[in-house]
Amino acid sequence: MTTSQRKYSCLRTFAQARELSLSDIEKQVDPTSILMCEPTCFDVKETKNAFMKGQVGKVDVALAQRQWFEVKSAFEKCGYPVHVVPAVDGFEDMVFAANQVLPGVKPRFADGGADGAAASAPYVVPARMAYQSRQREIPYYLDWFKQQKYEILPLCATTEAMPVFEGQGDAIWHPGHRLLWLGFGNRTEERSAPLLCQLLDVPVAMLRLTTATFYHLDTCFAALDENTVVIYPPAFDDESLRLIRHCFNRVIEVPESDAFNFACNCVALGHNVVLQKGSRQTCAQLESAGFNPVEVDTSEFMKSGGSVFCMKMMVY
Ligand code: ARG
Repeated sequence: MTTSQRKYSCLRTFAQARELSLSDIEKQVDPTSILMCEPTCFDVKETKNAFMKGQVGKVDVALAQRQWFEVKSAFEKCGYPVHVVPAVDGFEDMVFAANQVLPGVKPRFADGGADGAAASAPYVVPARMAYQSRQREIPYYLDWFKQQKYEILPLCATTEAMPVFEGQGDAIWHPGHRLLWLGFGNRTEERSAPLLCQLLDVPVAMLRLTTATFYHLDTCFAALDENTVVIYPPAFDDESLRLIRHCFNRVIEVPESDAFNFACNCVALGHNVVLQKGSRQTCAQLESAGFNPVEVDTSEFMKSGGSVFCMKMMVY
C-alpha cells in the first residue's frame, strides 16, 4: 500500500481518537486457537520485573508443570485447540508465549478476494525483547509460524534498528477490529507505534504505562469483546484512560488487590474468561457483565511476573 492510500495514524490523545469511531475501522477475524510452550526449563534466574523480586530459585518446578497443564486444559475446555512449541534447554522464560511475536491477519480486501480466502492470510511481526536472554527465544517461535505458513513482517530491516517491542504482551488487537492497542513506556518503546502503524496500516492507540510494576500492557488491560475491557486504571496516564473510555462502552476497573493478583492478565475465550483464582471482586464484575469466570492457579508463574494471558499466544 502506498503512503497516499494510507488511512490511519497513531492515536495518542483523546482529541485524535474523537475523530474515529470503531465502526470506521475495518473488521478483523479473531484468533481461533492458542500456542503455548511447556515449562520444562521454566525458572526465575534474575529479576526482570517487580514481581520477580525475591523469587530467584523459588519456583516449584513440579507444581509449575501441573499448573501449566491445568491452564492448557482450561483453554481446551473453552473450545480452543492448543498447539505447543518445544521448550529449549536453558530458556527459562520461553513458557511466556505472549511476547515473541505479534500475530495478525491481512484484511479480506488485500487480495481482492470476495470469497474471504484472504481473511486467513496470517502474518507475524517479530518482537525485539528488552532482555538478551529472551531475545534468543524468538527464532524458535518463528520456526513454528513459518511451518504454519505465516508471513513474517519485520518492523525494521535489521534487529539492531528495531525499538524494543514485546509482541502480544504489549500489542493487543481490539476484538473484531483492525485497531491495535499498544502499551509503551516500560518494555516496548514509543517509537514502535509509528512503525506498526505504517507496516500494518492500522490505527495504533498508544497507552502510556506509568508504573514500573505493571510493565506489560497485558498486566493491566484485557480486551474481552468489542465493547468490554478490564483495566487497572492507576497503571495508565489520564490521556490513555480517556482513549480507553472512548473506545470501549464497558470498562471493568479492577481493585488494587486483584490487579496484583493478575486479574487483568486474563483471556476471554468466547464468554469464558480464564484468570488467576482469587480475584473475588473482578469475578463478580465479570459475571454481572455476562461473562463466565474460569479460575485457574498460576502461582508459580506469577513469581516470574506472568499469569494466564502471558502463558499463551492467540493464533489464527
Ligand atoms: N519473566 C518474564 C519477563 O519479565 C515474564 C513475561 C510475562 N509476559 C507477559 N506477556 N506479561 O519477561
